[in-house]
Amino acid sequence: MAEAVASAIRRAGNPGRSGHALSIRSARDLFTARERLAELFGHGDSSRFVFTENATVALNQAIKGTLRPGDHVVTTSVEHNSVMRPLRRMEDAGVRVTVVPAGADGVTDARAVVAAFRKGTRMVVLVHASNVSGALQPVEAVVSAARKRGVLSLVDAAQTAGAVPIDLASLPVDLLAASGHKGLLGPQGTGFLYVREGVDVVPLIEGGTGSRSESDHQPDFYPDALESGTQNSVGAAGLAVSLAWILRRGIEAIRRKEIARVEELLSGLSRIPGVRVFGPPDPARRASAVSFLVEGVDPAEVGRRLEREHGVLVRAGLHCSPNGHRTLGTFPAGTVRVSPGPFTTRGEIARFLSGVRRVRRSTG
Ligand SMILES: Cc1ncc(COP(=O)(O)O)c(C=O)c1O
Repeated sequence: MAEAVASAIRRAGNPGRSGHALSIRSARDLFTARERLAELFGHGDSSRFVFTENATVALNQAIKGTLRPGDHVVTTSVEHNSVMRPLRRMEDAGVRVTVVPAGADGVTDARAVVAAFRKGTRMVVLVHASNVSGALQPVEAVVSAARKRGVLSLVDAAQTAGAVPIDLASLPVDLLAASGHKGLLGPQGTGFLYVREGVDVVPLIEGGTGSRSESDHQPDFYPDALESGTQNSVGAAGLAVSLAWILRRGIEAIRRKEIARVEELLSGLSRIPGVRVFGPPDPARRASAVSFLVEGVDPAEVGRRLEREHGVLVRAGLHCSPNGHRTLGTFPAGTVRVSPGPFTTRGEIARFLSGVRRVRRSTG
């Protein structure tokens, strides 16, 4: 992936802006990445995948490009700030927001979400898997109910894209946002928003697209409608390579491997006295993120010691999801979160567990 980015930098032309060879190659990098995204998510039309810098921009575009004063939105208490902050901003503009509390295990009840729909509900926003507890949320049930009620659905797949199968042919979601640099294994500066055909999204940014240049109005066709200015073809070249790897490897195989690692983590952590693990006990009901606390040790100190003494990198604190932590009862100190990926080995999990044991022993 890194080599693909380096090679793309050396030959970057402005994609879609010119007929010369470099411009065409860069446009091809974007197209290839877009086609592979469509293939991975089971969709026949890659033009519905709009590139963004990250999941945050995709979520802002989806939220601010669809909601209008007077609209009502339903969301949950386990959302990331990249959902909550735009929604709170929209409240200032007259949008009403209902936050449905998830259970203490971090899982939202689909019935409670649907029960919060009322006259004027325009959209439901739901994270696919909490980045705090790792808990998978009932997206299928919520999205299907939303479709039946004529409510738009937006799924934040930042923690699941590339790691948990998502099939847009069977999931009637309207908008789906994700990062390119997490489970999709691409470079930073990549992300996307999928917009179902027929869903009307007003662009946050307008400008040059290299198409319909005779008009001073933004084109209404995708992806140009939501992609203005020079696109990150260099990032797309890297993303295209990582997507090819995921497609070759198979999303089911990646998922199986990550479930196995999470299982090792959960059973190992549960055997260390004084360690408390959050989220569902069944690894199949989680994405690849496990939050825990070591009794008597500040999460940041656990993180520091795991890195310094064991070479294990984790994230401690609030994970940009204060509500997620309030739900688990771990606000304001947060937790330590460990997230195995498709390349994580059993040996690395064992090293991590022995690191946690030592941290615990030295303080317990
Ligand atoms: C659930 C969730 N949503 C959104 C985001 C934002 O992603 P990005 O950093 O790509 O903007 C993250 C990042 O950690 C996340 O975990």
